[in-house]
Amino acid sequence: MAESAIVFGSHTFSQAYEIIPKFCLTPRSTTAPLLRPATPSTSPSQHPINPTTTTTSRPFTSTMSTPSSAETMSFKDAIHLRRSIYALNKQSPIADTTIEEIVRTALKEVPSSFNSQSTRLVVLLKDDHDKFWDIVRDILKAHVPEDKWEYTGNRIKGFRGGYGTILFYEDPEPIKALQTKLPTYADKFPTWSEHTSAMHQYMLWTALEAEGFGCNLQHYNPLPDQKASAEWKIPLEWSLKAQLVFGGVEEGAREALKVKDEVPMAERLFVHGASS
Ligand SMILES: Cc1cc2nc3c(=O)[nH]c(=O)nc-3n(C[C@H](O)[C@H](O)[C@H](O)COP(=O)(O)O)c2cc1C
Repeated sequence: MAESAIVFGSHTFSQAYEIIPKFCLTPRSTTAPLLRPATPSTSPSQHPINPTTTTTSRPFTSTMSTPSSAETMSFKDAIHLRRSIYALNKQSPIADTTIEEIVRTALKEVPSSFNSQSTRLVVLLKDDHDKFWDIVRDILKAHVPEDKWEYTGNRIKGFRGGYGTILFYEDPEPIKALQTKLPTYADKFPTWSEHTSAMHQYMLWTALEAEGFGCNLQHYNPLPDQKASAEWKIPLEWSLKAQLVFGGVEEGAREALKVKDEVPMAERLFVHGASS
């Protein structure tokens, strides 16, 4: 496991999307919740376990016999609560060891194509999290036009204001090995590697929100790749896919979440052969 999940910044254990190359800096809403107590949640915007941020530590998997937040929330409510939350702070509702355990669980349990286990996760907490976003900021500053900087700078400041960031990498080696072993699917493996990364992203996003964090998903790669690689000794061959920012949820931020626009279900779901 140690070679797949690396955690920095813990004392207790060892992009509107910004399409960066074109600098299409379209503003998006900054108003930007996973698992249920035994009774259904009444408000979709209030976290059922963690209405306010606390410093209580709640184990994720180590105490399966002692139910705790994420363990006692239904999968359905967890899915429902996950949102993009941008108003984050530096408080953590759980211990760093629990964050690491959740990440280990992702690497252990989330499926990968042909069981490639190509995902590599780097967890940056506190000062290391800040450092990552300083790297992104400094690189962006050199490229973003002055008149666009206020928006971009504030956005980066918002991410830096969180508690941690998970960097999602894919290691090309297992992919290459599968391409050699199964040439029939050679052209498919890179796509399935992206799917594998996405599954880890979704699981961790949902799990961290179940624990009381707020999260948002970013794509500033490849800008910080080289500096991050040098700073945290990340192999340069690993391909950075996404950054999951997480932190305490600022008061009222969950309540302020807008109801999402929905494409009608009839345009998206087609069921055949079901019994009524
Ligand atoms: C594959 C994927 C890529 C995304 N990329 C970004 C991103 O780069 N920046 C960002 O702020 N949000 C990003 N998001 C968040 C989506 O905009 C957001 O999930 C969507 O609008 C639905 O809102 P919700 O997360 O509150 O349910 C991404 C989400 C997905 C699934």
